[in-house]
Amino acid sequence: MSDQHHAIEFQHVSRTFGHGKNRIYAVQDVSFTISPGRVLCLVGESGCGKSTTGKMVAGLLKPSGGRILYGGRDVATLSDAETKYFRRTVQIIHQDPYASLNPVRSVRQTLSAPLLRHKMVKNRLELNNRLHDLLMQVSLTPPSDFLEKYPHQLSGGQRQRVAIARALTVQPEFIVADEAVSSVDVSLRASLLNILLDLQHRLGVTFLMITHDLAVAKYFGWNGQIGVMYLGRMVELADTVKVLGDPVHPYTRALISSLPEADPDKTRTKERLELRSPDIPSLLRVPPGCSFHPRCPLYEEGLCDVQVPPLDVYSSDGHKAACWVMARELQQPRARDRIGEQGVEERAI
Ligand SMILES: Nc1ncnc2c1ncn2[C@@H]1O[C@H](COP(=O)(O)OP(=O)(O)OP(=O)(O)O)[C@@H](O)[C@H]1O
Ligand SMILES: [Mg+2]
Repeated sequence: MSDQHHAIEFQHVSRTFGHGKNRIYAVQDVSFTISPGRVLCLVGESGCGKSTTGKMVAGLLKPSGGRILYGGRDVATLSDAETKYFRRTVQIIHQDPYASLNPVRSVRQTLSAPLLRHKMVKNRLELNNRLHDLLMQVSLTPPSDFLEKYPHQLSGGQRQRVAIARALTVQPEFIVADEAVSSVDVSLRASLLNILLDLQHRLGVTFLMITHDLAVAKYFGWNGQIGVMYLGRMVELADTVKVLGDPVHPYTRALISSLPEADPDKTRTKERLELRSPDIPSLLRVPPGCSFHPRCPLYEEGLCDVQVPPLDVYSSDGHKAACWVMARELQQPRARDRIGEQGVEERAI
């Protein structure tokens, strides 16, 4: 695999779970690319397929359909040597670090194992220095208080920081960060995001950042892209600035309008996009046509409930969205005035 290609590409990727009547599409017909050194933030409500997508990116789950390319090569057909390289360079920080940290390994053992396995330190002194640095980086200080601890002796946020430190041990080129800061105190959140951002800026690490929190996506992915998922499908995909400032899909608009503003007066007066139903349908009974239609304020019978809308390009900058109504309206001038603009302003996280 050559160096200029460490991007990932999803081509019509699907992933099912279960069989027969119980089969669900956790991910369905999802396509995107992440260029080397860039960030894609995946957002969407619980159960929309974010973690399943992240696990496929990291090679932990196989797609049921479609292709995943890493560095231009199909991940399914990598040689043993390439697979080994892929495993080292693509790291995942799991959503639930309790499940991903070995309960019988101390923090020292958890962090030492990859450093020793990949011969990233020459001797015990170097190892100790590196462990110390890693824990300092994720604000587990003083490191000596944490090195001999086991997962059950740590809080959720501390475990998440150990998981982040572990991902940093092997100098990854690609990090899948699945709700990496969700269980961490707000006071620490920005500093952990800054550690990850620094990797991106300084070392050109490519990121798939998974979060249900648009504020995290905004902070982390400001120069990257946001992909909005709904019931297993990608419904909007564009530069972060465009998704937040000029969203096309009504679902994205609803997500953005539910974000609190830093200024409470603004929150009170902000235009709300009312959904027709607050409930997310079950993946066992996905509504026909656009699966968002039972909740969508723009719903039109006969247009929205027949065929699945394709993820179409809306503007010359490649802004993509999957909505029949917007596809029609945006061809007509002033259509957006009727629907209403809903930009979001700069906001600290
Ligand atoms: N191993 C599995 N076996 C069966 N169903 C699964 C499995 N993993 C995920 N699912 C189902 O697939 C769907 C998508 O799950 P996924 O974990 O990808 O969602 P998510 O967007 O990460 O949600 P959350 O925000 O709650 O983390 C859910 O309905 C989930 O129950
Ligand atoms: Mg998840």
